Amino acid sequence: MGGFSVLTWRRSRRAPDPFHEAPKVPEVPPADVMAAAEDYLRLFHAENPGAGVLRERLREIRQEIADTGTYTHTSGELVFGARVAWRNSGRCIGRLYWRSLRVRDRRHVTTAEGVAVECVNHLRDAAPGRRIRPTITVFPQDRPGAPGPRIWNEQLIRYAGYATADGSVVGDPRYVGFTAMLRELGWSGGPGSPFDVLPLAVSVGSGPPLLSTIPGDAVLEVALSHPRHPWFEQLGLRWHAVPVISNMCLEIGGVCYRAAPFNGWYMGTEIGARNLADADRYDLMPLIARRLGLNTGTDRSLWRDRALVELNVAVLHSFERAGVTMTDHHTEARHFLIHLEREERAGRVCPADWTWIVPPMSASATPVFHRYYEDRRLSPNFVHHADSLERALGHRTATGG
Ligand code: ARG
Repeated sequence: MGGFSVLTWRRSRRAPDPFHEAPKVPEVPPADVMAAAEDYLRLFHAENPGAGVLRERLREIRQEIADTGTYTHTSGELVFGARVAWRNSGRCIGRLYWRSLRVRDRRHVTTAEGVAVECVNHLRDAAPGRRIRPTITVFPQDRPGAPGPRIWNEQLIRYAGYATADGSVVGDPRYVGFTAMLRELGWSGGPGSPFDVLPLAVSVGSGPPLLSTIPGDAVLEVALSHPRHPWFEQLGLRWHAVPVISNMCLEIGGVCYRAAPFNGWYMGTEIGARNLADADRYDLMPLIARRLGLNTGTDRSLWRDRALVELNVAVLHSFERAGVTMTDHHTEARHFLIHLEREERAGRVCPADWTWIVPPMSASATPVFHRYYEDRRLSPNFVHHADSLERALGHRTATGG
């Protein structure tokens, strides 16, 4: 693997255009920062009784905000804030493990090269021996007049989407725009397979991003096979093992960490019932149904449903066979309700968005389907900023999702 251990850097040649300029830091009036800081520090001290004297810490923070417009978290405040941001993520079914989040404090890393290297280190560090550990790497926060770094990719590992002349797409259609944007920025493209890993795009300040290839040994992937259908393996399907979301902002007490990539492990349906199945992603249900010999001429043969089940059997089987951490939607739904109960016992609201918590297949066969939840926007949290959403899909008008 020696050849893979070196990052290849590609500085893009194009002059910056307005779209590629670093986003402006919103000028938050210090009073708002102080109010948010105070809310967070109260929470931090309430849940961490050994953390010292709240009044003194607030005085320090008030002074730093007056001097600089923002303030600096202690490492204890940062670690707890990142964990609570996960706890407060109403769309995540996997929150039972929120206390176990590993926090890599990389607030001293200020160059684009340094950020890219630490992203690669994150990938290696999050899955030692194929056992995945929930991990976040935190890069410098935004400060008035001095924005922190930006990671343009939606996740550290994603597959390119190449639009072809006949209107079809090779690869992941979700990233056709992002792929085209990277090529404009100087990426020469991958080999052209349906699973070409995109380079990282990292910017610091204004100007185009630094593009860098992720070394192969940092990209853990699983080739898909089916326990009973030998032809399945011949389809050449695969997926990456670690989902590292890299375009969301970690917001803690009025501070924005715009570059703070984080990962858990996959739930099988994310791959088998969405990434590989959605009509606007890899759209594999028709192909698999045909290979299964199902009647695709009528909706009522339930060929989509049956193809979906076999695709998801293959995903779970393949990850298990490869020894890579993955959960299934039945187990995770049960765990989520345990988490909910624990949170309620601790006297906290557990915000949850039904439309995201309920799995995309066999919904009513899981216990999370049969009830409603309270949803609230609590802080700390992981939030989307419009410019990051737009960059990650290679256009200006992305909506949510
Ligand atoms: N659904 C997203 C994907 O396919 C990943 C979201 C985060 N998932 C997780 N298990 N932590 O890639």
